[in-house]
Amino acid sequence: MTAAILSLTNVSYRYPDGTSALDNCSLTVARGSRTAVLGTNGAGKTTLFLHLNGILRPSSGQVRWEGTPLDYGRSELRKLRSRVGLVFQNPDSQLFSASVREDVSFGPMNLGLSEKIVRERVEEALHAVGMTDSADKPVHNLSYGQKKRVCIAGVLAMQPEVVVLDEPMAGLDITMQEELTTVLERLHAAGMTIIVATHDLDFAYGWADEAIILQSGRLLAHGVPAKILLQQDVRNELGAAPLVAEISSQLSLIGIDLRDKGYLPRSKSELLTALGAHIRQETKP
Ligand SMILES: Nc1ncnc2c1ncn2[C@@H]1O[C@H](COP(=O)(O)OP(=O)(O)OP(=O)(O)O)[C@@H](O)[C@H]1O
Ligand SMILES: [Mg+2]
Repeated sequence: MTAAILSLTNVSYRYPDGTSALDNCSLTVARGSRTAVLGTNGAGKTTLFLHLNGILRPSSGQVRWEGTPLDYGRSELRKLRSRVGLVFQNPDSQLFSASVREDVSFGPMNLGLSEKIVRERVEEALHAVGMTDSADKPVHNLSYGQKKRVCIAGVLAMQPEVVVLDEPMAGLDITMQEELTTVLERLHAAGMTIIVATHDLDFAYGWADEAIILQSGRLLAHGVPAKILLQQDVRNELGAAPLVAEISSQLSLIGIDLRDKGYLPRSKSELLTALGAHIRQETKP
């Protein structure tokens, strides 16, 4: 069993206007895991994320880093935020510098790194999100999707232990979504813990090791996506199950088994490959 890097114990949160956004949530995020957080609009995903790097403090309950309750003092929070990088849902909440390069440099510069290292990290991060050519552009002139990419670069340049991304794919074109998935895979392979809020059931099903389902601020389910995303209560809450899983299960009803070495396809490309192989087998002369 992998140790928890972040955990919540009975966390409840009320916004100052009285809205209850988290209600007695207990959950753990394993070090090195790929965790998807799902839930309908207003379920509490963003509120949960704001607790993970100490921007919000629970009204009751505790958030822990490697088993130790968070210390909300200024220097401890700064340390926590260098470990837990949060990419905001709305890029305008995150960007503030004049140019793209300045914005991405801000975090690593504040870590007290040398100018050379900062420059290297910034160029690498901009390259990872395909924004190298726009490095000198004013942030306010960028498109929405470009702003999202710059926000992601800003967090990557910090090289945190945990990257938390709030609906990172929303507003990105298909090529960039695929590139971002590749970036996330690379970070995961390098040992980083990645937590993503998403409404994309197929992405969660294909990418995550663990899924957390929130329902009106409460934890509805937490576990392996291939299992819990097919649970009836989760399907009812989210309004659907992953399409890839639905297609495989419908095909199995008419005797077509797409299992390969015991595993069902997890992504659209795996599904197409399995279907192609099945059709070739069936139509062999
Ligand atoms: N600043 C705030 N003041 C008062 N209530 C808030 C505030 N921010 C969020 N809420 C409320 O808290 C609840 C949870 O909101 P949150 O933004 O965490 O949901 P979410 O799951 O991220 O939704 P979405 O999918 O739309 O991003 C909602 O009922 C929302 O209206
Ligand atoms: Mg949100």
